[in-house]
Amino acid sequence: GLTKPGDVDHFTRVRCYEAVLNKYPAATTAMSLLNLAMRMAGPREAVWHGLIRKNHGCTHFIVGRDHAGPGKNSAGDDFYGPYDAQDLFRTHEEEMGIEMVDFKHMVWVAERAQYEAIDEIEDKDDITILNISGTELRRRLQEGLEIPEWFSFPEVVEELRRTRPPRSNQGFTVFFTGLSGSGKSTIANEVEKALNRMNRHTFLLDGDNVRHGLNKDLGFTDADRIENIRRIGEVAKLMADAGLIVLTAFISPFRAERQMVREMLPEGEFVEIFVDTPLEVAEKRDVKGLYKKAREGKLKNFTGIDSPYEEPEGPDITVNTVEMSPVEAAEHIVRALGALK
Ligand code: ADX
Repeated sequence: GLTKPGDVDHFTRVRCYEAVLNKYPAATTAMSLLNLAMRMAGPREAVWHGLIRKNHGCTHFIVGRDHAGPGKNSAGDDFYGPYDAQDLFRTHEEEMGIEMVDFKHMVWVAERAQYEAIDEIEDKDDITILNISGTELRRRLQEGLEIPEWFSFPEVVEELRRTRPPRSNQGFTVFFTGLSGSGKSTIANEVEKALNRMNRHTFLLDGDNVRHGLNKDLGFTDADRIENIRRIGEVAKLMADAGLIVLTAFISPFRAERQMVREMLPEGEFVEIFVDTPLEVAEKRDVKGLYKKAREGKLKNFTGIDSPYEEPEGPDITVNTVEMSPVEAAEHIVRALGALK
């Protein structure tokens, strides 16, 4: 059933159990699933689990290290000692009529090629003890690093990898913001090309494919711009979920809406890039002739003229297009992404 955030999901866990069961003769094992959400109640939950198993006819019940432990509290201390659950179970075991099989914290002893309980090893200084913590396992899955055979069956690792693709296969959103004519689209295009050369799948959302399609009902009032960015955020989220690196190139003039998109996406999967081009420079470039029109009053609510642009306060990456060419800016971004991702 449901556990705590960050844990391996139910379906993956069941597939892992199936992979483990395949290692044992069919007549000696059977899988029985109980769809019960974890309460993370530590020792009391261990006793409760034992009672339920007893009622379903089990004679023995394994209680491992930190059974149903919720981890650390806000002060960084463990809620329960690692063997509190075993201690409580032991005091009620007889009354419950189900016997505990207590598992200690097992580690791999390389020289003897076997698992041993860490507190029972007497020659600790003369042997090589190998262990991978939960955090380290998650890191290895995330980074696509090796998980040795002594730690788990390769079939189980394969199942775990399927739910946690390495970061290099995960999608995220690179969100460009800056004035009209600042160079967002040009730089985003160069970044896209560089990522493609690295075999990464990308998708570029910009005015050309969004303002003429999905958002063609929107104009340039504040409300429409906010809705424009909200929809872009939702689309980016879906595409990143599918594993793409999504690049968005919109003015997105308001801090609050950029923050809204950041909050919409999973932590660390929104990279804000400020294309820092001063108004004078963008206006002088005036590639589309729109600044001229806006100055003449023929175009209303133009960003930087009669509609505000709120510069990002803490962008993840800033590029200065006065000092850098678009290709240089793109190279800088790709390098910085490499460090972030
Ligand atoms: S946003 O503010 O809603 O993020 P978006 O990036 O989609 O803007 O569109 C900006 C582009 O639309 C500009 O580069 C420009 O070509 C064009 N445009 C037309 N009218 C305006 C306007 N009033 N203000 C800014 N850009 C406009």
